[in-house]
Amino acid sequence: MSEPQKEFAIRVRDLVVGFGRQTVLDHLSLDVRKGEILGLVGASGGGKSVLMRTIIGLIPRREGTIEVMGQAIGGRRQGAALTWGILFQQGALFSSLTVRQNVQFPLRENLVLSQELMDEIAIAKLEMVGLLPEDGDKYPSELSGGMTKRVALARALALDPPILFLDEPTSGLDPIAAGDFDELISTLQKTLGLTVFMVTHDLASLTTVCDRVAALADGKIVAIGPMHELLQSEHPWVRAYFHGKRSQMLQHEMR
Ligand SMILES: Nc1ncnc2c1ncn2[C@@H]1O[C@H](COP(=O)(O)OP(=O)(O)O)[C@@H](O)[C@H]1O
Ligand SMILES: [Mg+2]
Repeated sequence: MSEPQKEFAIRVRDLVVGFGRQTVLDHLSLDVRKGEILGLVGASGGGKSVLMRTIIGLIPRREGTIEVMGQAIGGRRQGAALTWGILFQQGALFSSLTVRQNVQFPLRENLVLSQELMDEIAIAKLEMVGLLPEDGDKYPSELSGGMTKRVALARALALDPPILFLDEPTSGLDPIAAGDFDELISTLQKTLGLTVFMVTHDLASLTTVCDRVAALADGKIVAIGPMHELLQSEHPWVRAYFHGKRSQMLQHEMR
């Protein structure tokens, strides 16, 4: 580790993760810089979600080290919820709770605050993600896909964490809602100085909001850099991913 570690929000070294006989991550190393939006691409079933869940300590590792904000992950950890917010791939809201109660959930779990203060925070967080105070009274079944993602984002940011993990946040959204969500992430990253770790297949997201893109193949990060560098990568999987027929067509349309 030659570079000074204070530049990095997340440092992963030689990470090995598997289930039974299956090895999913095989000596994977990755650095996420403070304040950047890092996009992660990889084949479906390749281990992107497993990587994210291992970094936040939900999946045990067989080998390797993980540091988040200079603190080693492993064993008991204090204040994880204050360090990161998460939008899971199946990022369901609690269906029996209102939007306001969903956003307040991490506050209730981690802090002791008056109801009045929690209501103020919920309104502020909803506003931050482009929703109205009235939306707080709605139930998840009453929301559009785009609104659901925004509420999940408001909940992830309830405790003002410095790091945000997003697992395919725009999948399932129409292109306009996806574009709006990307813009929101980009604005929040700039105004709050967030570090964002985002798993995505969305070429538009990769091109427009990510500072760097990392490619996961064969259990390792095989390429990492700004999008224009990834497009030059000689790695066979990365080439196939960005220069396959389907992505060529999309890149052409985006020009
Ligand atoms: N909790 C688990 N138990 C067993 N196998 C798992 C578990 N979570 C993920 N896997 C396996 O790990 C591999 C990577 O999964 P995942 O990280 O979800 O892929 P993706 O890159 O699509 O997010 C898959 O083969 C999946 O079946
Ligand atoms: Mg996944």
